[in-house]
Amino acid sequence: MSLLHVAGLTKHFGGVVALDGVGFTVEAGEVVALIGPNGAGKSTCFNLINGQLAPDAGGISFDGASIVGIGPRRLFRMGIGRTFQIAAVFQSMTVVENVQMALLSANREIFRFLRGVPRRRRGEALALLDRVGLAGEADRAARTLAYGDLKRLELAVALANRPRLLLMDEPAAGMAPQERADLVSLTRRVVDADGTAVLFTEHSMDVVFAFADRILVLAEGRLIAQGAPEAVRADPLVQAHYLGTTTDTEDGP
Ligand SMILES: Nc1ncnc2c1ncn2[C@@H]1O[C@H](COP(=O)(O)OP(=O)(O)OP(=O)(O)O)[C@@H](O)[C@H]1O
Ligand SMILES: [Mg+2]
Repeated sequence: MSLLHVAGLTKHFGGVVALDGVGFTVEAGEVVALIGPNGAGKSTCFNLINGQLAPDAGGISFDGASIVGIGPRRLFRMGIGRTFQIAAVFQSMTVVENVQMALLSANREIFRFLRGVPRRRRGEALALLDRVGLAGEADRAARTLAYGDLKRLELAVALANRPRLLLMDEPAAGMAPQERADLVSLTRRVVDADGTAVLFTEHSMDVVFAFADRILVLAEGRLIAQGAPEAVRADPLVQAHYLGTTTDTEDGP
């Protein structure tokens, strides 16, 4: 049984068909890239899986049970994590406090933090920061971090909930090519150690082909190819729709 199973997923926005009968699976521990040109439907697909949007048709099951109609908070509790935009990091807190908050939230202890027990789970938070290479920045205010470090903090915060599936929509957007590769390779190492599955989007093909186990290719709301990186790279349909039309460092709008 697949960890995530998506079938016939369809979503319209007015007259726009953002997703049209998309089906795929993600296995436990697998790192899968969802690629495609701007407007292909990637973010829509993420928002359907994490419960922010409801599908017009199709099914989504996680760990064998349908999750259609379940909201983001409950899905998060069930083990579907996501990296948020930077705004989700508490800028006024220190780096380690952000991770402590995430750990307390994951363990339903948040009220204790608010009642002034700021050292709770600090050791655990420091261990997580160490895993993402941020132990040295633990006591800095989060707002003083460089962008690339903020992205690592975001990853540590997401991992605090021990997700079984982590959804990452353009985690490396806005970063320089080398930083992108570093962030995705770090993510790959950390999730491999935990057996966490990842579904991610990324516009840099170098990064996608280096770190994904499998690639799904969307174009105009339809899945036009899927498979191992080498097979997808060689696919004529993919080359026609996508690989010939994007630069290596292009971001979404
Ligand atoms: N909330 C919305 N209302 C109306 N149209 C939308 C909405 N969200 C997405 N769309 C449309 O659905 C299509 C798919 O958009 P989506 O954001 O899923 O693409 P994407 O693959 O994530 O693109 P990008 O690479 O630019 O991030 C596009 O035509 C987009 O304009
Ligand atoms: Mg998008």
